[in-house]
Amino acid sequence: MTDTAIMPETATPIVKAVDIAYIRFSAPDLDAMERFVNDFGLVVVHRDDEVLISRGLEPMPFLHVVHRGPAKFMGWAFEVESEGDLDALADAVPGCSPVHDIGGVEGELGGGKRVHFVEPITGFVLEAVHGQQAEPLAPRRDRITYNHAGVDDRVGVEQDVSGNRYPIKKDPGPPEVYRLGHVVAAVPPGAHQAFMRFLENTFGMLVSDAARMIIPPGAEEHFPPPLVELIKSTGSDVMFQFMRMDRGAAETDHHSMLVLPLMDGTPEAQFSHAAFEVFSMDDVFRGHMHFRERAAEGAPYALAWGVGRHVYGSQIYDYWHDPYGHVHEHMCDGDRVDASYGPNTIDMTDPGQLGDNGGNQWGPTVEESGVHNLNGPQCDPRFADRPDEIRASLLSRDLSELQHVVDAI
Ligand SMILES: [Fe+2]
Repeated sequence: MTDTAIMPETATPIVKAVDIAYIRFSAPDLDAMERFVNDFGLVVVHRDDEVLISRGLEPMPFLHVVHRGPAKFMGWAFEVESEGDLDALADAVPGCSPVHDIGGVEGELGGGKRVHFVEPITGFVLEAVHGQQAEPLAPRRDRITYNHAGVDDRVGVEQDVSGNRYPIKKDPGPPEVYRLGHVVAAVPPGAHQAFMRFLENTFGMLVSDAARMIIPPGAEEHFPPPLVELIKSTGSDVMFQFMRMDRGAAETDHHSMLVLPLMDGTPEAQFSHAAFEVFSMDDVFRGHMHFRERAAEGAPYALAWGVGRHVYGSQIYDYWHDPYGHVHEHMCDGDRVDASYGPNTIDMTDPGQLGDNGGNQWGPTVEESGVHNLNGPQCDPRFADRPDEIRASLLSRDLSELQHVVDAI
């Protein structure tokens, strides 16, 4: 074990990605997924027998794709700054496709060019895109104006955050999603550190906050002793790492990715969750109330963790398992920083830094928190009851049944 909390500086990266563009799943029941994305607050822009494509309000043509196929998370796309960046990836990344026009429905929605490859450490399909175009969608609701104590920004106007004031309804309906914020991967220990280095070397990602693998008193149940030993045996004490895009002096999200070690012995890398930005705290709670009401009516959704406010990144969050157990997060008010931020060490020997409150500024306690719920779809409380075939496809990164989809990316 080293005393170095942060990954060592690496050589010049192949490219510096500027954002996360979209995520890609496959699922046997596109009708169930269409109901889910509508309940989540995405806007469906294409649906046929083979694929469901959705977007947010930001000027990107889509940010969520579900193909008909086995229940599975496939991967995600990075947005890069130029076509030259796509050329650089095609030249330097083993197994990368040539640069090509985005084809099919995805090309019709926003044009652009891309490359893709199957990343060998995790088995995820990673894509890089440039030149996609779309007009923004207008929000249906006005931006909320808050009165703070002693600072009245809203005078003479009654607050009606959900359109619920007249008449009072139980379910405020879904929030409006603006954009995709971050993707989190849970990767077997050791491989997870290799994947962090891959993200630095390939997409130029920077470390925002990195956690050292030493256990704070009172949190032992979240960090099984074999895992502690496993992390230490990798030769690095970096347990997890919040990573962001290097946009120089321009601001970017505190984290566009987080890489976690898989805590439960699951042998292959898993999708922890993806976070979608909504406008305000009221929208996060609106999503929470809507999912609670829909779940009470029998919709196949399950709470993973929320509502709370994180320490690292500061987002107000709410995490829900979708019909197949993949966690989708509503979040708002995250930290925005430039390339001068950090890297910071989260010293996990200091209970004040991780905290005994699940890493929250406020929100669920450790006992109630979803620390265990964010390692992959196997953490869904409904996972054990799923058919064997679904459980196997969810946890496997095998893409053989989806080769036709991968070939068309
Ligand atoms: Fe998150």
